[in-house]
Amino acid sequence: MANSDIVWHETAVTKAEREKQNGHPGFVLWFTGLSGSGKSTLANAVDRYFYDRGYRSYVLDGDNIRHGLNQDLGFSAEDREENIRRISEVAHLFVDAGTIVSTAFISPYETDRAKARELLPEGRFIEVFVECPLETCEDRDPKGLYKKARSGEIPSFTGISAPYELPRNPEVTLRTGERTSEENVQDLIEKLAPLLQNE
Ligand code: PPS
Repeated sequence: MANSDIVWHETAVTKAEREKQNGHPGFVLWFTGLSGSGKSTLANAVDRYFYDRGYRSYVLDGDNIRHGLNQDLGFSAEDREENIRRISEVAHLFVDAGTIVSTAFISPYETDRAKARELLPEGRFIEVFVECPLETCEDRDPKGLYKKARSGEIPSFTGISAPYELPRNPEVTLRTGERTSEENVQDLIEKLAPLLQNE
């Protein structure tokens, strides 16, 4: 709960000024999907695309953030909610700085994703559903976590013993079982055309 004795301090440099300097608006690409669906791969691929073209862009990734900012959080429903709440606030700050931020978190709960959206102005939160069948994610099992989840070594594993609530109305759906990373990035960039005027 926010402390009523703390007063918001307006910044000297406005968001509009930063966006003008950057040459593009700040916005969030909120990648959501099962473990192993390809969120980090796509977030990093699109980040590379932006960086190579001079856009201000950054990736916030689940595994990395859980090593630092959110190292005190586990995988209970409450901890995941707090994880996403903090990330949402950080993403908001990045957008305030005029940056394109790609977040790669499972973010399994619809309400938490909706709250993240509410922090951003209209059109500046793009939910990207990284759709991949559970069987394919499990076949890939890049970190061996599904195997551990099936054996019970990891409790509350998303898709196995913890829920993943499907996005109901994502702006973009990318199917990583059917399309290559390059094709998915291209599809995504085309969808972002209204935000990237000089494309
Ligand atoms: S969440 O649900 O959004 O809070 O999760 P996130 O911060 O994205 O972290 C997911 C990564 O943590 C690893 N991991 C687990 N995932 C799901 N369930 C359980 N119990 C779990 N334990 C560890 C896993 O490597 C996830 O990474 P990705 O990149 O999604 O595969």
